[in-house]
Amino acid sequence: MTNVTDQDRVLIFDTTLRDGEQSPGATMTHDEKLEIAELLDDMGVDIIEAGFPIASEGDFKAVSEIAQRAKNARICGLARANFADIDRCWEAVKHAEKNRIHTFIGTSPLHRAIPNLTQDEMAEKIHETVSHARNLCEDVQWSPMDATRTEWDYLCRVIEIAIKAGATTINIPDTVGYTAPIESADLIKRLIETVPGADEVVFATHCHNDLGMATANSLAAVAGGARQIECTINGLGERAGNTALEEVVMALRTRNDIMPWKTGIDTTKIMHISRRVATVSGFPVQFNKAIVGKNAFAHESGIHQDGMLKNRENFEIMRPEDIGLSGTSLPLGKHSGRAALRDKLETLGYEVGDNQLKDIFVRFKDLADRKKEVFDDDLIALMSADDEANDHLQLVSMKVTCGTGGQAEATVELEVDGKDVIATEHGDGPVDATFKAIRAIYPNKAHLQLYQVHAVTEGTDAQATVSVRLEEDGMIATGQSANTDTVVASAKAYISALNRLIMRREKAGPGADAREISYKDLT
Ligand code: KIV
Ligand code: ZN
Repeated sequence: MTNVTDQDRVLIFDTTLRDGEQSPGATMTHDEKLEIAELLDDMGVDIIEAGFPIASEGDFKAVSEIAQRAKNARICGLARANFADIDRCWEAVKHAEKNRIHTFIGTSPLHRAIPNLTQDEMAEKIHETVSHARNLCEDVQWSPMDATRTEWDYLCRVIEIAIKAGATTINIPDTVGYTAPIESADLIKRLIETVPGADEVVFATHCHNDLGMATANSLAAVAGGARQIECTINGLGERAGNTALEEVVMALRTRNDIMPWKTGIDTTKIMHISRRVATVSGFPVQFNKAIVGKNAFAHESGIHQDGMLKNRENFEIMRPEDIGLSGTSLPLGKHSGRAALRDKLETLGYEVGDNQLKDIFVRFKDLADRKKEVFDDDLIALMSADDEANDHLQLVSMKVTCGTGGQAEATVELEVDGKDVIATEHGDGPVDATFKAIRAIYPNKAHLQLYQVHAVTEGTDAQATVSVRLEEDGMIATGQSANTDTVVASAKAYISALNRLIMRREKAGPGADAREISYKDLT
C-alpha cells in the first residue's frame, strides 16, 4: 500500500496512458506508451495508471512491459467489477516492484441501471470484487464511478464496504465533470468524517473538465482531505479531458502559501513531456493553455514587455525555467555544427545517439538552408516528424497548382513497397487534391477524422506541423509531419497515418479491431 505518512504530501496519479489514451483518437503505439511511462516515472509521478489490461492484447502488453521497466512509480491497471478483469489486471501489473489494481463500478442511479443491479446486488458485487483484488494485490484502489451524482447514503455505504473488503485507496470520480469546488471539498471532508475506516485509507480525486473546473475541483478536494490527485498530461482525456497534471502541480507550487501541500514532481520535466504527449497523441496543446501553452510565457503588448524588462515579476508568477523552458531561445543557423545541435537537443530533453544525430543533422542543415534561423520549436518539430518507419508508403515528389477559384491540381509520386506510382487529381484546394492523389495511388477506406495545421514558428518561413487522424474499421491512427510547406507537411502526415494504419492492421491480423472492448462496456 502507498504509505502516506506526511499529511502535507499529495500523491500524483497519472492516467494519461489510460483515461487520456482512451479519448477518441488519442491512441498511442506500444513504443510511445513505453516512452511516456518512462518520462512520467522520471518526473516523479507516484502512481502511473498504465492502461486497461483486459481491453486488448495491446493494452495488456503495454501495462506489463511498463510494470517491468518502472524504476520508482507504482504501476496500476484498471479493471471493471468482475474477476476476469481483475485477474487480467493482476497478470499485467504483478511484475512491477510496486503495483496496484484499480477496480471500479458506476454507483449513481443512472450507472446502476446499466448492469441493471439493485443497490444490494451492487453492494455484494463490490464486496466480492474488492476482496478478490485484495487477495491478489496488497494495494487496491476502488472507485464508485459517477460518485458526484450518487446518493449520499448509498455512497457512504459502498465506500465502507470497499474499505472493509481491503481497498487501500478510495477514489471519488467526478466522471461527468459535474461538481464545483465548494461541493468537491465538502464531499471529501464529509466522507472522511462519516465513513467508518476512512482514516485508514487514502482518498483520491478524479475530475473531468466538462465545465472547465477540473483543476479547481481537484485542489478543493485536497483542501477537503484528499491526498491523491488523478490527472493527465495536457489534461488529455474523454470529452473535455481530465485534470491537467501541470496545472495542479504548478498551482500547489506557486500558491503554496494558501495551499500548503507538496508533490514529488520535478517540474522542470513538464514542458518536455507535454510536447511528447501532444505529438504522440496527435492532440496539439492550445496556444493559451495554462502552463504549457505556447503563449503561456509570451508577453506581446508594449506595456507588458516594458513591465517585464523592468522586473519580470510584474507579469510572471512562475518562471519559464520552472517548467523546463529555456526562457531565452538561442537560435541555431546554417553555420551551426553538430556539437551545437546535440547540445541544444539535450537542453530540450532529447538524448540522441551518434547515428541518430547524423541523420537529424542532415535534416537540420536542410531546414537551416531554407530558414534564416532554426528555433527550439523548429527542432522539436523536426524531432517529432517522421519518427515512424514509413515502410510501405513514402513520398517521392509532389507538385501542386492552385487556381483562383479554389480548384487545385496535385501530382503526387509515392514509393509503394519499393515501386514508384504517380497520380494526378483535382480537388477543392491543394490539400484536398493532394489527399485525393494519395488515395488514387493507395486506395483505402480510411475516414479522415481530423486535419489540423499548427504553425509552430513565426514568420512566412514558419515550420507548419500538421496532424492527420484516420479511422478504418474501428482502428485509429494519427500521423504528424512538419515542413516549411504546409501542403508537403499535410501529404507527409497523411502518409504517416496511413503507414500506421497498415502497420496496425498487419499486427492485429485479419478482421481484428484495435481495441476489443471499451471500459464503457459496463456489464
Ligand atoms: O471518470 C471515471 O469515472 C473513470 C473511472 C474509471 C475512475 O475514469
Ligand atoms: Zn475518468
